[in-house]
Amino acid sequence: MKYPFSRILYGGDYNPNQWPREVWQEDMRLFQKAGINSATVNVFSWAKIQPGEETYDFSELDDIIAMLSRENFDIVLATSTGAMPAWLVKRYPEVGRVDYEGRRHKFGQRHNHCPNSPAYQKFARALASKLAERYGGNPHIACWHVNNEYGGECFCENCEKAFRVWLRKKYGTLDALNKAWNTEFWGHTFYDWDEIVAPNALSEGIGREKTAFAGISLDYRRFMSDSLLENYKLERDAIREFDRETPITTNLMGTYKGLDYFKWAKEMDVVSWDNYPAYNTPWSLTAMRHDLMRGLKSAPFMLMEQTPSQQNWQAYNSLKKPGQMRAQSLQTIAHGADTIQFFQLRRSVGACEKFHGAVISHSGSEDTRVFKEVSRLGAELQKLPELIGAGNPAEVGVFFDWDNYWALEYTSGPTVDLKYEGQIHQYYRYFYDHHTPVDMVPVDGDFSKYKVICAPMLYMVKEGVAEALEKFVAEGGTLVTGFMSGLVDESDNVHLGGYPGPLRKLCGIWVEEIDALAPGQENTLQFPDGTRAKCGLLCDRIRLEGAGALAHYGEDFYAGSPAATKHNFGKGMVYYIGTQPDKEGLARLLGGAAAQAGVKPLLDEETALEVARRVKGGKEYWFVLNLTGKAQPLPRCFAGDMDLLTSRDGSAEMEPFDGMVFCK
Ligand code: GLA
Ligand code: ZN
Repeated sequence: MKYPFSRILYGGDYNPNQWPREVWQEDMRLFQKAGINSATVNVFSWAKIQPGEETYDFSELDDIIAMLSRENFDIVLATSTGAMPAWLVKRYPEVGRVDYEGRRHKFGQRHNHCPNSPAYQKFARALASKLAERYGGNPHIACWHVNNEYGGECFCENCEKAFRVWLRKKYGTLDALNKAWNTEFWGHTFYDWDEIVAPNALSEGIGREKTAFAGISLDYRRFMSDSLLENYKLERDAIREFDRETPITTNLMGTYKGLDYFKWAKEMDVVSWDNYPAYNTPWSLTAMRHDLMRGLKSAPFMLMEQTPSQQNWQAYNSLKKPGQMRAQSLQTIAHGADTIQFFQLRRSVGACEKFHGAVISHSGSEDTRVFKEVSRLGAELQKLPELIGAGNPAEVGVFFDWDNYWALEYTSGPTVDLKYEGQIHQYYRYFYDHHTPVDMVPVDGDFSKYKVICAPMLYMVKEGVAEALEKFVAEGGTLVTGFMSGLVDESDNVHLGGYPGPLRKLCGIWVEEIDALAPGQENTLQFPDGTRAKCGLLCDRIRLEGAGALAHYGEDFYAGSPAATKHNFGKGMVYYIGTQPDKEGLARLLGGAAAQAGVKPLLDEETALEVARRVKGGKEYWFVLNLTGKAQPLPRCFAGDMDLLTSRDGSAEMEPFDGMVFCK
């Protein structure tokens, strides 16, 4: 596979099929003016290019692709299978989903095919194949975009049958399955594979979020993720028969819960994703999601979508303030993106996205704030031609794992407030605030390149993970973990013999009990020097077995007992944080662990600016962003350097949303 791109792709979703031809000409003029060099086309055109079961009509798409090729665009060509045509659903009702409540859906909306429908598979594959045969040789096709934002779930009979096949393959025998799911509880023992039904609201589901049997519900999530992945692979392989070279992707959604993206990424040539932060999403959380998308393949990624101005589907769709889109785009590139693509290039006339932001507004005018900001960034990105493919070296790895995400949030007790992404983000944010690059890593990744691995809420410890962590620490690594860790195996059955199960030896502690604190209740962390921090959510009652206490609880019947610990293991160190400290308390614990492990922040000066670095061929690209809402001085280390984007001197003050890139 050739490296995906030779220039930063700048453009996005483009739907000329929704417009008369005169508008196309105007689009070309405006795109050129804005520095747009790429367009994602054919995302939702299945009904147009296949008006009936036996008939295809590529005439309009031929013209669109010819026009974009003439203009030397890098075309991102979608396969259109994310929205089914009405005729398909009418003739083959099985392609529609059965939802969590058990209702069979009719024609309507999008992103809602049944992944195990033979009819869907047949027609989706055929369409991808026709497209690849027709356009696969066009050198302007820079990337294939399969389907669109795969997700959701189906509980129909075809899925149920396929689930049983998937289970047979995984477990071999019903005995093994009954054991894994602990079906002796409530007498749910299965004697025939056909007795197993999809775990929705009519079966094991408790509300939308919980389940009576995590064993079956977890397997169903894995199965759904695999089923949709099979759909992706079907189209990918069809494309590959005609086009051996062009990278193939599908657009992911950051920390979207439904799909195990680490598994998906193995099948994708390049990761792409859609970034839609809300008006109040912390910048650190967006940064973490970018790092996760980079981490999926340990490689640069594509930003397939973001809005140039506002959204329509959030509760409050505020405008991006002047400079905010630029700052957000620079942050995206800083964390590893090689493309900046918008949804969408021209704002649509009707249906639910008519108020979704676009490069060209309903006025059609280029004299708009948004168009000018897009044009400015278009010109600036051309000043970073060598950045393509640059890496983001990091000394700290933070775990992210979809099995843990699912299992942790399914679990009933000890508190309803366990949210996986939020917990991971608390750890991530410390490093973000302290200008320390982080890789988001899978639990079965290669840890050897990191000084510190953070494993917050490593609730599920799958086979091999404890051993890999022991090896990492024994050889000198530092592990930081904490409450709700080491509790269950991959089927959500408890690791017996005392918490944190397989991590007990590593941590040098035994957690005897776990207290849950309601909102408003808190405890305190007391450090040996007399300082204190607040803590809450959960409090592990820790017994030391070789570890030393870093802090003790200040309140309740367990006042004076250890709340956070540190344990020498081989040549390395293991920290265990048994409660949720406030921001300062966590900073103190993580800061201590990182410093002792020799982790070096990018800067040794204090600054409220975001600083990130990409590295390629001996050159370092330093991104400095003011996301604070107030003017900020630049750190002294940039004095004398010149901003590649604006040629300003590195001693200037930065206004809110300003961003600079220095090459060192
Ligand atoms: C998603 C979809 C797009 C569009 C945008 C709107 O990311 O992929 O087709 O609907 O949302 O924000
Ligand atoms: Zn189904």
